[in-house]
Amino acid sequence: MKKRRGRNKLDRIFLSSPHMGGKELDYVHRAFETNWIAPLGENVNMFEKELAEYVGIGSAAALSSGTAAIHLALKAAGVERGDAVFCSSLTFSATANPICYQGATPIFIDSEEKSWNIDPVALEKAFAKFGAPKAVVVVDLYGQSADMDPIRDLCTQYGVPLIEDAAEALGATYHGKQCGTLADFGIYSFNGNKIITTSGGGMLVSDNEEMIKKARFWSTQSREQERHYQHNEVGYNYRMSNVVAGIGRGQLHVLDERVKKKTEIYERYEKAFSDIAEIQMMPKCEYGEPNFWLSCIILDEKSKVKPLEILLTLEKENIESRPIWKPMHLQPVFDGCEFVAADKKDVSSDIFARGLCLPSDTKMTEEDQDRVIDLIRGCFGV
Ligand SMILES: Cc1ncc(COP(=O)(O)O)c(C=O)c1O
Repeated sequence: MKKRRGRNKLDRIFLSSPHMGGKELDYVHRAFETNWIAPLGENVNMFEKELAEYVGIGSAAALSSGTAAIHLALKAAGVERGDAVFCSSLTFSATANPICYQGATPIFIDSEEKSWNIDPVALEKAFAKFGAPKAVVVVDLYGQSADMDPIRDLCTQYGVPLIEDAAEALGATYHGKQCGTLADFGIYSFNGNKIITTSGGGMLVSDNEEMIKKARFWSTQSREQERHYQHNEVGYNYRMSNVVAGIGRGQLHVLDERVKKKTEIYERYEKAFSDIAEIQMMPKCEYGEPNFWLSCIILDEKSKVKPLEILLTLEKENIESRPIWKPMHLQPVFDGCEFVAADKKDVSSDIFARGLCLPSDTKMTEEDQDRVIDLIRGCFGV
């Protein structure tokens, strides 16, 4: 029987799922042929080098996850038990959890409406209220850079290391520079839903080569260079395997293509909803080019249609959408942690209440996206 072209109607449309480019297996095969399955090998070294070249940074350490990369960035920044760390509130919990691994306390900072990212005004307020923390962790949400210039200026003024969580923002830029390279340390995630994936993995990047070397050391159980097993520090099993790094090398070939497709997806939604006053797209800031990892919408306060209604309408048709990240200061696990907003309005909670992430899968056809669009328009009776 002739295979039908395109997607079966009953196939699920995903928010963002793995999308192989074709070259991944070549690199994986090389690992097998040389019997360098694990732990390290050429793919790991080359993935670090190729990614560092792509984003334009001095050094990179390939790790088992983005979360591990944030953990080692905090350690490299000197964060220890009892320290305070300022952190974006509107993000995935993996941004904040490693602060707790270090025994430190997060202080959550609100978002600005302009970018949905950390509000430099709120950050300044936090510095004035609490003094200098041990580090600041800033997220580039849904593939758009935070407004890094004023954030970095504040950190420089107070002498505080800045960590950029660019887990969702590989390939995005800020004033022409790649996200993830705008702070003392940057991190990327290659989790299955990210713009490129290794099935699971992460990268820590920095121009501080010494610290990247140290991170590699910590990630391999802090084993000293001795013939016997010598350990002077606590270590972690955080290194990326040579097989996984092979997938990453293959995926790097299609990163630009993925950014282009994600941009087209965002622009098609933007155009399709332009006549519905209640729907606004996540704002795009003039200071950079997002990678549009996820296309998100925010509904007008007065909109009778709520995000959940759209989510359930899509779910009935086997289409995945997702609420905006629930801010960390609303999470029971972080009960009692401080939260600083620029003024009385809690912007991140408002975005959580009114926003929705739409299917942004790069394997989605135009036909698929039209189905999504029609279903959403139907919720508004148009
Ligand atoms: C903003 C953000 N930070 C950190 C992470 C953690 O990355 P990983 O899943 O690779 O540990 C993710 C995604 O998973 C993320 O979206």
